[in-house]
Amino acid sequence: MGSIGDNTSGSSYGYRMSKVAVSMAGKSLSHDLKPRGISVGILHPGLVRTRMTNFTGITPTESVQGLLARIDQLNLDNTGTFWHANGEVLPW
Ligand SMILES: NC(=O)c1ccc[n+]([C@@H]2O[C@H](COP(=O)([O-])OP(=O)(O)OC[C@H]3O[C@@H](n4cnc5c(N)ncnc54)[C@H](OP(=O)(O)O)[C@@H]3O)[C@@H](O)[C@H]2O)c1
Repeated sequence: MGSIGDNTSGSSYGYRMSKVAVSMAGKSLSHDLKPRGISVGILHPGLVRTRMTNFTGITPTESVQGLLARIDQLNLDNTGTFWHANGEVLPW
Protein backbone atom coordinates (compact mmCIF):
# COMPACT_ATOMS: atom_id res chain seq x y z
CA MET A 1 0.00 0.00 0.00
CA GLY A 2 3.00 2.31 0.47
CA SER A 3 4.57 1.54 -2.91
CA ILE A 4 3.75 3.96 -5.73
CA GLY A 5 5.26 1.60 -8.30
CA ASP A 6 3.16 -1.30 -7.03
CA ASN A 7 -0.12 0.65 -6.78
CA THR A 8 -2.38 -1.21 -9.20
CA SER A 9 -5.69 -0.71 -7.40
CA GLY A 10 -6.01 2.90 -6.15
CA SER A 11 -8.12 3.86 -3.10
CA SER A 12 -6.97 4.23 0.54
CA TYR A 13 -5.53 7.70 -0.09
CA GLY A 14 -4.68 8.68 3.47
CA TYR A 15 -3.34 5.25 4.38
CA ARG A 16 -1.15 5.06 1.28
CA MET A 17 0.19 8.59 1.77
CA SER A 18 1.10 7.85 5.39
CA LYS A 19 3.13 4.80 4.34
CA VAL A 20 4.95 6.70 1.57
CA ALA A 21 5.88 9.33 4.19
CA VAL A 22 7.34 6.60 6.40
CA SER A 23 9.44 5.36 3.47
CA MET A 24 10.79 8.87 2.85
CA ALA A 25 11.64 9.28 6.52
CA GLY A 26 13.43 5.92 6.51
CA LYS A 27 15.44 6.78 3.40
CA SER A 28 16.58 10.11 4.83
CA LEU A 29 17.45 8.44 8.13
CA SER A 30 19.54 5.89 6.25
CA HIS A 31 21.67 8.70 4.77
CA ASP A 32 21.89 10.71 7.95
CA LEU A 33 22.76 7.76 10.22
CA LYS A 34 25.21 5.96 7.92
CA PRO A 35 28.17 8.12 9.07
CA ARG A 36 27.40 6.94 12.60
CA GLY A 37 27.47 3.29 11.51
CA ILE A 38 23.71 2.82 11.87
CA SER A 39 21.70 0.96 9.18
CA VAL A 40 18.02 1.58 8.50
CA GLY A 41 15.65 -0.92 6.90
CA ILE A 42 12.22 0.03 5.53
CA LEU A 43 10.11 -3.08 6.06
CA HIS A 44 6.76 -4.26 4.76
CA PRO A 45 5.40 -7.09 6.96
CA GLY A 46 3.42 -8.71 4.13
CA LEU A 47 -0.32 -9.26 4.22
CA VAL A 48 -0.71 -10.31 7.85
CA ARG A 49 -3.66 -11.99 9.53
CA THR A 50 -4.77 -9.18 11.86
CA ARG A 51 -7.93 -7.22 12.54
CA MET A 52 -6.92 -4.72 9.85
CA THR A 53 -7.07 -7.38 7.13
CA ASN A 54 -10.12 -9.20 8.51
CA PHE A 55 -7.67 -11.96 9.45
CA THR A 56 -6.47 -12.87 5.97
CA GLY A 57 -2.86 -13.50 5.01
CA ILE A 58 0.17 -14.98 6.76
CA THR A 59 0.29 -15.35 10.54
CA PRO A 60 1.96 -12.69 12.67
CA THR A 61 4.60 -15.30 13.59
CA GLU A 62 5.45 -15.94 9.93
CA SER A 63 5.61 -12.21 9.28
CA VAL A 64 7.90 -11.54 12.24
CA GLN A 65 10.21 -14.41 11.24
CA GLY A 66 10.63 -12.76 7.84
CA LEU A 67 11.15 -9.32 9.33
CA LEU A 68 13.82 -10.65 11.71
CA ALA A 69 15.61 -12.28 8.77
CA ARG A 70 15.64 -8.93 6.94
CA ILE A 71 16.99 -7.17 10.04
CA ASP A 72 19.76 -9.80 10.27
CA GLN A 73 20.57 -9.07 6.61
CA LEU A 74 20.71 -5.29 7.12
CA ASN A 75 24.10 -3.59 6.85
CA LEU A 76 25.69 -0.31 5.79
CA ASP A 77 25.83 -1.39 2.13
CA ASN A 78 22.09 -2.10 1.84
CA THR A 79 20.86 0.55 4.31
CA GLY A 80 17.79 2.41 3.04
CA THR A 81 16.34 -0.59 1.19
CA PHE A 82 12.55 -1.16 1.05
CA TRP A 83 11.97 -4.85 1.73
CA HIS A 84 9.01 -7.19 1.88
CA ALA A 85 9.28 -9.59 4.82
CA ASN A 86 9.85 -12.39 2.26
CA GLY A 87 13.10 -10.78 1.10
CA GLU A 88 11.80 -9.18 -2.08
CA VAL A 89 13.07 -5.63 -2.68
CA LEU A 90 10.00 -3.46 -3.28
CA PRO A 91 9.67 -0.59 -5.77
CA TRP A 92 9.18 2.86 -4.26
N1 LIG B 1 -1.84 -6.42 8.63
C1 LIG B 1 -1.20 -6.16 7.49
O1 LIG B 1 -1.31 -6.90 6.47
C2 LIG B 1 -0.29 -4.96 7.40
C3 LIG B 1 0.44 -4.79 6.22
C4 LIG B 1 1.28 -3.69 6.13
C5 LIG B 1 1.41 -2.81 7.19
N2 LIG B 1 0.66 -2.98 8.32
C6 LIG B 1 0.78 -1.99 9.40
O2 LIG B 1 1.04 -2.62 10.64
C7 LIG B 1 0.56 -1.76 11.69
C8 LIG B 1 -0.28 -2.60 12.64
O3 LIG B 1 -1.43 -3.05 11.94
P1 LIG B 1 -2.18 -4.40 12.29
O4 LIG B 1 -2.26 -5.21 11.04
O5 LIG B 1 -1.55 -5.02 13.50
O6 LIG B 1 -3.62 -3.82 12.57
P2 LIG B 1 -4.65 -4.03 13.73
O7 LIG B 1 -4.68 -5.46 14.17
O8 LIG B 1 -5.91 -3.39 13.26
O9 LIG B 1 -4.03 -3.19 14.94
C9 LIG B 1 -3.99 -1.79 14.89
C10 LIG B 1 -3.48 -1.28 16.22
O10 LIG B 1 -3.40 0.15 16.16
C11 LIG B 1 -4.05 0.68 17.30
N3 LIG B 1 -4.64 1.95 16.92
C12 LIG B 1 -5.49 2.23 15.91
N4 LIG B 1 -5.82 3.52 15.89
C13 LIG B 1 -5.15 4.10 16.93
C14 LIG B 1 -5.08 5.40 17.43
N5 LIG B 1 -5.73 6.41 16.85
N6 LIG B 1 -4.28 5.64 18.49
C15 LIG B 1 -3.59 4.64 19.07
N7 LIG B 1 -3.61 3.36 18.62
C16 LIG B 1 -4.40 3.10 17.58
C17 LIG B 1 -5.11 -0.34 17.68
O11 LIG B 1 -5.40 -0.18 19.04
P3 LIG B 1 -6.72 -0.85 19.70
O12 LIG B 1 -6.51 -2.33 19.76
O13 LIG B 1 -6.76 -0.21 21.06
O14 LIG B 1 -7.88 -0.47 18.83
C18 LIG B 1 -4.38 -1.66 17.39
O15 LIG B 1 -3.57 -2.06 18.48
C19 LIG B 1 -0.22 -0.63 11.00
O16 LIG B 1 0.61 0.51 10.91
C20 LIG B 1 -0.50 -1.19 9.60
O17 LIG B 1 -0.64 -0.16 8.66
C21 LIG B 1 -0.18 -4.06 8.45
